[in-house]
Amino acid sequence: MISIIGGTGPEGQGLALRLAMAGEQIFIGSREESRGKEIAEQILEIKNIPPITVNGGSNLQAAKHGEIVIIATPYAGHKQTLIDYAKLLKNNIVIDVVVPFSFSKGQISTLPVSEVSVAEEAQEILKESKVVGAFHNVSAEDLLIPNKMMDCDVIICSNDQNSTNKVIELAEKIGGLRGIDGGKLHNSRYVEDFTAHFININKIYKTHSSIKISGI
Ligand SMILES: NC(=O)c1ccc[n+]([C@@H]2O[C@H](COP(=O)([O-])OP(=O)(O)OC[C@H]3O[C@@H](n4cnc5c(N)ncnc54)[C@H](OP(=O)(O)O)[C@@H]3O)[C@@H](O)[C@H]2O)c1
Repeated sequence: MISIIGGTGPEGQGLALRLAMAGEQIFIGSREESRGKEIAEQILEIKNIPPITVNGGSNLQAAKHGEIVIIATPYAGHKQTLIDYAKLLKNNIVIDVVVPFSFSKGQISTLPVSEVSVAEEAQEILKESKVVGAFHNVSAEDLLIPNKMMDCDVIICSNDQNSTNKVIELAEKIGGLRGIDGGKLHNSRYVEDFTAHFININKIYKTHSSIKISGI
């Protein structure tokens, strides 16, 4: 099962929907058990999609039961959430999609992080998990349109090659996504930061932009 901590927001819901449509069993976690359940019910009500398995509940349940666990909270809650569930995430692949940014007066900025990348911060807390930075550049709005073919690359960074390979395979279960090995977790910072600029580009072109790497 794939669990999503902070799975009730647009990015968590979008990944839940698309991975469930690809045949994965999904668990949506929330700080409020009832909200996790409610969002899972809402996803199950989406029409014109293949049969899917989505359950929901608390972040604690998500951390306990996920074989792969996605972290999809805002950066503000990232560190404490990981500290809270570190023991339960031991030995798991933990996919971190968190981007450190803030909005002020219509302007988006990246936030300073204590280590080089948010994903490295996660690995520092989750010493016994295999942290993978991925999906930062994939638009939640697009993921949430079930029959829209995605059209972008997912740059995947991890210090564990086996985990990188597994997440590439997972990303490619979503139609139109291509997984790219982005190297070590250190490199995740470039991917995280560029996401903020996609939001600027989206404002200019009134679209949901993303990334495609040429030459591969
Ligand atoms: N939206 C996008 O297109 C997109 C694309 C790529 C990456 N991302 C990244 O993915 C992450 C999730 O994005 P999102 O737009 O879905 O975010 P969001 O809606 O702001 O937050 C997701 C969920 O996190 C929980 N949460 C809120 N504050 C929290 C806190 N202080 N501590 C712990 N949990 C908290 C909430 O769930 P409960 O109240 O149910 O606990 C909320 O529904 C973000 O880090 C974002 O940068 C987003």
